[in-house]
Amino acid sequence: MTTKDAVKILSRYPNTRYMGSKRKLIPIIAQVVKQLSPSTALDAFSGSGCVAYLFKEMGIKVTANDFLKFAYNIADASIANSHTRLTDEDIDLLINNEGNNNTFIRDHFRGLYFSDEDNAFLDSLWWNISKLKDNHKESLAFAAISRACIKRRPRGMFAYTGFRYDDGRKDLTLTLKEHFLKAVQEWNETVIDNGTVCSAYNNDVFELKDNNYDLVYIDPPYVSNHSDNDYTRRYHFVEGYMTYWQGVKIQEHTKTKKIESIPSRFSSKSTIYGAFDDLFGMFPKSTLLISYSSNSIPTKEDMIKLLKKHRRDVEVLEIDYKYSFGTHGHKIGDNNNSASEYLFIAK
Ligand SMILES: C[S@@+](CC[C@H](N)C(=O)[O-])C[C@H]1O[C@@H](n2cnc3c(N)ncnc32)[C@H](O)[C@@H]1O
Repeated sequence: MTTKDAVKILSRYPNTRYMGSKRKLIPIIAQVVKQLSPSTALDAFSGSGCVAYLFKEMGIKVTANDFLKFAYNIADASIANSHTRLTDEDIDLLINNEGNNNTFIRDHFRGLYFSDEDNAFLDSLWWNISKLKDNHKESLAFAAISRACIKRRPRGMFAYTGFRYDDGRKDLTLTLKEHFLKAVQEWNETVIDNGTVCSAYNNDVFELKDNNYDLVYIDPPYVSNHSDNDYTRRYHFVEGYMTYWQGVKIQEHTKTKKIESIPSRFSSKSTIYGAFDDLFGMFPKSTLLISYSSNSIPTKEDMIKLLKKHRRDVEVLEIDYKYSFGTHGHKIGDNNNSASEYLFIAK
């Protein structure tokens, strides 16, 4: 696979502006994975799904996993799903306004993120999705509305309320329904059959089974002194929407009405060393490929030490890469954000 091929593949995959997405590194990841030539791979922290999708395009039997439900739906729609698309009749059913009394979003989130018209669309869409009666179709619809909500939000997130940061992008002039209809087409176009049976899971990584994958790709949240790595805080609205806020706890005292963050051992300095140590021990027969940033804790040297506890052969590729999480008003190129991206390959 050439760099050009990898870029072409990804041009078909919706760009979700997902925090920590490795989309820009896809050509390099493609080169490395081609040399490793795995038949099976686990993307243990799949996020936007772009790396898992690259693997699927390369003919690998892929398993994607993420503990967020909306990331899972994206992976189920585009990785595990090889044949199902939303048809015109499905779309008619989905955007139909009648026959439901759901007003939770209108009542609970009025004025916080979207217009009353958009909130009413979200209320009826959820009800209509529940009538689809096909898991992959549901996932396609949830992937599409997640993309619509994120694109419709200035800065693509829900960590603030109101309509600040309007940068004049055309995306901010479209209704959620218009975004949704575009996104349905985009996700429909990602559906491919690579001749293997791919899967998607919605688990904490430590609940996954070791299926003797040839390759395990590891891209957890980065812990650092100057960036936010709380995915629930940033995306709580779409995450809550996946279940219509059933079974989750809204923190009513917060302005954003966010749900409680899902705890991850990869999000704090006090737990991250033990988390990596345990994770590297989980898949003893697999080659590990780890994305990592020079701004992160543990340091590169500590990561090598940890990996050497579990693998004989550890190689590090350093990629010069200006990185921005964009959460604290830094611009790309600020000292704090100018980071190198590493790929560790451990066998
Ligand atoms: C850096 S992002 C992955 C980005 C992805 N590789 C991409 O290119 O879009 C890290 C992901 O890990 C997920 N995550 C964090 N802690 C997790 C855990 N304990 N188990 C499973 N997923 C977790 C987050 O929801 C987030 O989607």
